[in-house]
Amino acid sequence: MRFGEAFLEELKSRVRPSDVVGKHVKLRRQGREFAGLSPFTNEKTPSFFVNDEKGFYHCFSSGKHGDSISFLMEVTGLSFPEAVEQLAQMAGMELPRQDPRAEERAKERKAAISWMERAQDHFEKTLYRAPGEAARNYLKARGLSKTAAQYFGMGFAEDSFSSLKDNLIREGADERQLIDAGLLVDPDDKSRGSWDRFRNRIMFPIHDNRGRLVAFGGRAMEKDAKAKYLNSPETRLFSKGQLLYNYHRARAALADPKNGARGLIVVEGYMDVIALSRAGFRHAVAPLGTALTEEQLALIWRAGPDGFLCFDGDKAGLRAAYRSIERALPLLKPGQSLRFVIMPDGQDPDDLIQAKGAPAFSALLERSVPLVDMLWRREIEKEVLNTPEAKAGLKSRLYDALREIKDPTVRELYEASLLGRFDKQFGRVWTPNRSKSREKKADKKVVAAGAAKLASNMRQAQTLIGGIILFPNLLEDVDETLFGLDFTDPAHVAAQRSILRYWRQTKAVDIAGLHAHMSVDGLEEELRTILSRRSLITAALGGADAENGDRAAIWIEEAGTFMEHARTDAGSPEARSRMAETIRKDNAEAMHRLMRAQSRARE
Ligand code: UTP
Ligand code: MN
Repeated sequence: MRFGEAFLEELKSRVRPSDVVGKHVKLRRQGREFAGLSPFTNEKTPSFFVNDEKGFYHCFSSGKHGDSISFLMEVTGLSFPEAVEQLAQMAGMELPRQDPRAEERAKERKAAISWMERAQDHFEKTLYRAPGEAARNYLKARGLSKTAAQYFGMGFAEDSFSSLKDNLIREGADERQLIDAGLLVDPDDKSRGSWDRFRNRIMFPIHDNRGRLVAFGGRAMEKDAKAKYLNSPETRLFSKGQLLYNYHRARAALADPKNGARGLIVVEGYMDVIALSRAGFRHAVAPLGTALTEEQLALIWRAGPDGFLCFDGDKAGLRAAYRSIERALPLLKPGQSLRFVIMPDGQDPDDLIQAKGAPAFSALLERSVPLVDMLWRREIEKEVLNTPEAKAGLKSRLYDALREIKDPTVRELYEASLLGRFDKQFGRVWTPNRSKSREKKADKKVVAAGAAKLASNMRQAQTLIGGIILFPNLLEDVDETLFGLDFTDPAHVAAQRSILRYWRQTKAVDIAGLHAHMSVDGLEEELRTILSRRSLITAALGGADAENGDRAAIWIEEAGTFMEHARTDAGSPEARSRMAETIRKDNAEAMHRLMRAQSRARE
């Protein structure tokens, strides 16, 4: 890390978070805070808050929070050092000195990038001139308009060993620079000169995460070409495992609240990205002909909580999907996962969209499979599971996979999910003389238990919501937990939304105000039901005389069991572990408050 703690603290204290955020979000002062519309979601009512005293922002609708630096990273896609640099500029602070060699390298990098840009310019001009005719026809035949080709900066490298070289050297490049940038091939035999690497190929510019042109991919046009795609070699600018094709555009597209997707779409080829983008899925990226690396996964999760990986449904496709599971397991975190989209009949996304249009792809996205399901599938497909040994083998493989997951909360939930499936499928013990009537009785028992569980869920949900209605000051401790609760009953969902909206707008704990607000939202009946159970709810939350802190602690515990019991089968493990995390956080805060109150009482 290049920056010391002291420098970062000083930097953050010099610039008000509201000034940093204010450049991107329209803020309105509201008490001690500033409020505005979330830059992360498409909301109509402000639920995004900035607190200068505490030095952070909090977004209720996306759950994101952080300081000025993380805000800049989130909103503009800057890396950490880049965000620090920008903030330092605002603060008028000098960055700690870099060593002179680094400065030299940065200069060289800049020069190399500018030669890449000139090369692109040359390729692009060639595409629209006489030598580009066949290439233009090829693109047209693949359904690509001129606008699309221009949007992606596509070009054509003509069938010549020196067209690019001559052109750039005329513009002042030296040969060494062009070789280092991967544009020319340096022969081993030094008696010959260097020559153009890309010949007779359609050119795709490849950018790094910040949108700087660092490489090219070139596609041959004839069917029997030796290499269908030829990419730039690894250079000082380009390391193919560390970037994703189209990332800079895709990330910005995903960040647009109108987009609404939960993560980038990851496909195999450049042409797939382009086809998806044209079909309206502008948040698509592709690795460059290799399996996803850790760095690429990190990029995917920097853009959104999920990644939608598209794979062919054939053997090779599944193998690739399974490989990415392996990469991903150690990196899973609460609210950070992958989903898998399996393509039908050997079609890639480009083929599918050409044949059936965008809705066909949307339908596939909707059926995307969570990572945990894909992992289960991978393990049960390995062998026939008809002997105890085979089943034991499966169980030990499941444990192997679980050990790969580093995050304890996620691991716990994966364990519950995978072992639950195992028990459901293989765990039932065979009982030799089980009569029909006993089975029926057992079924009845299951149904009765299910009904009882449902009823107790309803009661719990009512206690949680009713608790807030009767004791709105609970919101000071539990607002985030309430936000994350997955109610199933529509009336409860509506009440939850209404309460949170009131809280965000007013930050008041006024019972009458809350009731009036909920009535306006059409929740009178819900209010009546709750009020009729007033004494039960009050008792469940520690009685009428309970201290605020105690009541909050009980409420949070209820919320925890509610989430555990409510929908054990629904929702991804990541979503539930994210919830568990929030609950823990609220809980810790409530405990703090409780302890402070107690020590005050003792004084
Ligand atoms: P595909 O062979 O699936 O090609 O390679 P595609 O994307 O469908 O391309 P079209 O539709 O035939 O034009 C997928 C990706 O693998 C890399 C490229 O990044 C390509 O986009 N690749 C493929 C190579 O790097 N070299 C190759 O020879 C082939
Ligand atoms: Mn294709």
